[in-house]
Amino acid sequence: MQVPPKKRVVELRELLNTYNYEYHVNDASSVSDAVYDGLFNELKQLEAKHPELITQDSITQRVGNELKDGFQKIAHSTRMLSLNDVFDVEDVRAWVVRIDKLLPGHKHEFFADVKMDGLACALVYQDGVLVQAVTRGDSYIGEDVTNNVRTIKNVPLRLRSEDGFTQFLAGRTEIRGEIVMLKHDFAALNAKRRKNGDPEFANPRNLAAGTIRQLDPKLVAARPLHFRGYDLLRDNAGDVPTNMFAYEALSALGITRNQEASVFTTIDDVMRFVEHIGEVRDKLAFNTDGLVIKVNDRAQFSKLGVVGKQPRAAVAYKYAAEQATTIVKDIVISIGRTGAATPVAVFDPVVVAGTTVQHASLHNADEIARKDVRIGDTVVIFKAGDIIPQVESVVKELRPEDAEVFDYKQALAAQYPELEFERTGTDVVYRVKGSSGDLILKRSVEYYASKGALDIDTLGEKNVVALVDAGLVKDVADIYTLTYEDLIKLDRFADISARKLVLAIQAKKTPSLEKFILGLGIRHVGAQTAIDLANKFHSVAALKKATIEQLEQVDGIGKVVAESLVAWFSDEDNVALLDKFERVGVRPHFEKKSGKLTGISFVVTGSLESMSRDEAADKIRAQGGIFQTSVAKDTTYLVAGGKVGASKLKKAESYGTKVIDEKTLLELL
Ligand code: IVH
Repeated sequence: MQVPPKKRVVELRELLNTYNYEYHVNDASSVSDAVYDGLFNELKQLEAKHPELITQDSITQRVGNELKDGFQKIAHSTRMLSLNDVFDVEDVRAWVVRIDKLLPGHKHEFFADVKMDGLACALVYQDGVLVQAVTRGDSYIGEDVTNNVRTIKNVPLRLRSEDGFTQFLAGRTEIRGEIVMLKHDFAALNAKRRKNGDPEFANPRNLAAGTIRQLDPKLVAARPLHFRGYDLLRDNAGDVPTNMFAYEALSALGITRNQEASVFTTIDDVMRFVEHIGEVRDKLAFNTDGLVIKVNDRAQFSKLGVVGKQPRAAVAYKYAAEQATTIVKDIVISIGRTGAATPVAVFDPVVVAGTTVQHASLHNADEIARKDVRIGDTVVIFKAGDIIPQVESVVKELRPEDAEVFDYKQALAAQYPELEFERTGTDVVYRVKGSSGDLILKRSVEYYASKGALDIDTLGEKNVVALVDAGLVKDVADIYTLTYEDLIKLDRFADISARKLVLAIQAKKTPSLEKFILGLGIRHVGAQTAIDLANKFHSVAALKKATIEQLEQVDGIGKVVAESLVAWFSDEDNVALLDKFERVGVRPHFEKKSGKLTGISFVVTGSLESMSRDEAADKIRAQGGIFQTSVAKDTTYLVAGGKVGASKLKKAESYGTKVIDEKTLLELL
């Protein structure tokens, strides 16, 4: 179902060009920045991997901002730079280390402010009077938008005079800042358009950017723009010793600036500010996607210099995007403890809101139908804060031609041929037929306690049924909270049997990791797979975080098992169950088994005389060996119990697997 790269790059370019057109020409984008960036990055990565697919007109080959005709071009007094992005505290620390190397022993004073999401503009005041306003343009040359900026009500046409700051009223004072549209103005404007039946604007930044480049100032005046300063430049740099002083001067001169801006002396304090703004950013008057952090001292700032377009002395801290795009690889259905069948979309891993996600619950059949999610679709994933990732929408333009409508019932039948499902009344989910909640639970508890798994003495089928029916066990972890008093009340238990069961359960609070994994009853995860997983991941927590790629790296684990695991760990019920195991004190432990059979793998065919196959498996594993069910290229020995079929022999021969008899196995053991 994978779209060939050659086709994909063409489709991505086409779609990105459409978005670009909407953005720059119509001032109305149909997608968020995060979605645009996600697709743009995918295109860039594909082109990097397949350079032969790069075309001259690819959107990735465009450099800088083009300048539109109709505005006079003006050279900036000094370049209007942009900033390098940082995404977490590690990045911030690395930035400080770089600065420290270049300026050993400098005073650690950081200045931080909210980063506004608008467009940069430089206002030039001559002897206190506004004479020019210039957009950033290509950083060297911008567009003269003076007439438009004059319509912005909070841009003073003459700077205020205040004691201590009158020097800025003489000569040239350049004030740089951001033109934004405040959120409430944007909402009001759109409300009006909605009422008039006009199409709504996509977001405040696009609208601000589109507005400022209108040729008709009257139109600009009809759209409420707002200016906030963040920089003050003088011919004599010494007039502005620190960035904090620049902000104080801005206020004195009558320029609006962010009141949040502050100075910090440690990274920890800067990070607390980052966190604080992260919490209140929704309530700010304008949109923001992060913070600007600068070296406060301006002499140090300029000493640090510029690399490319970015000054070394400042960075933009970006909050993690809450949206990302990715491709649905499969839709796997997981059966929870109540028998509910929950579909899970499995996709290529993406980072959303700072964490890597690779699956999202699609909740139920109706939800899949409503969103029309299909395997092979490019989807927008949404995740805010602690919220579980969701598929927000499908990018229909990128749908492969052969992507079929997901047939939920057929998928259920294909993935669980042995089960029957039903959907009753107003229930939105399919459940295992007749499960009425308890059947699956009983089976799960029984399986968990069974010989191959935790091997809990006397917790067999009948006891499990009694415990579940009495309402004492509502999930598998509940068995650990059972008390003598609970049991003795039930008909099935007498003094000794009650005591025995409680003891048997408590004795299994520190199971080996592989038995515990097996006991969870994850579909397609048998005894050997559980061992392989334990050996690879060493803890439940690590296994829970494993990506499909990491799982597939484990010998003997393919796509089906990997997806089944990922689906299991993405089911909210299962995550809650794991938490409960932890709360009731179950501590699976990993112990590296090693013995003389470490690294040696066996397949047993036919029946052995001295022991059963299960016993053989246990004995092999106890010595660190691997017990496989069929001959593969890494099989060391094929143990022949009785006659071996010709095809098996041939396979063993082609893999270089040695055929041995039972006696040799016993010697090895
Ligand atoms: S200081 C060398 N402060 O973000 C540039 N910039 O990528 C120093 N921006 O070009 C800029 N809010 O257009 C600064 N409080 C703020 C800002 C801010 C928004 C924009 C600005 C700049 C870009 C940096």
